[in-house]
Amino acid sequence: MEISFVPFTKEHLPKYYEWAERPQVKDTWFIEGYEPVSAIEDKIGSESDSVPFVICLDGREIGFIQYWHWQQSDSDCIFARFGEGTVGIDLFIAESDCLDRGVGTEVVSLFVQKIISELNPKHLVIDPFTWNKRAIRCFEKAGFVFSHEANDGISDCYVMKYIK
Ligand SMILES: CC(C)(COP(=O)(O)OP(=O)(O)OC[C@H]1O[C@@H](n2cnc3c(N)ncnc32)[C@H](O)[C@@H]1OP(=O)(O)O)[C@@H](O)C(=O)NCCC(=O)NCCS
Repeated sequence: MEISFVPFTKEHLPKYYEWAERPQVKDTWFIEGYEPVSAIEDKIGSESDSVPFVICLDGREIGFIQYWHWQQSDSDCIFARFGEGTVGIDLFIAESDCLDRGVGTEVVSLFVQKIISELNPKHLVIDPFTWNKRAIRCFEKAGFVFSHEANDGISDCYVMKYIK
């Protein structure tokens, strides 16, 4: 399989809004209390802390991935222990025929290599919900290990860090 990461542009917005309605995306990303779907518009071509990409598999757009630079905030109970120089990852695969076939593991592994070679962060982290066993297993296979559990005020999260 050939995976690539295409910088997200405004041309991708209609597809993103459509993807946001898919059950596995809606249930893990667009839960009340977290950022709304429209938050993507502030991340395009800006100085935002988040850098978004579309995931392509053999030339087909199948999902979304981003990295973000951790910033100190008083309300952060999830990542504060890692401190400055921490980079986090979030993703979803929107096309359901691409789920549970090892694609996510390959995507995360490649994205991690990209971040390490371009940014060389002090810590690389990811925070699936504790109930999201598929995501946790995928991230374990891509080299992440359990760090701690924390509640972000809405959900319990299973915080994981990448071991280089
Ligand atoms: C999470 C996600 C990126 C993983 O990608 P994927 O291609 O489906 O995952 P993979 O096929 O690489 O690996 C999934 C693993 O979880 C396992 N798995 C699937 N459902 C599971 C469950 N309910 N309990 C435990 N393990 C499960 C699979 O068997 C596989 O492990 P194995 O290879 O050891 O058998 C993808 O499923 C997705 O985008 N889900 C919706 C959005 C989401 O949850 N994003 C993550 C938010 S942090």
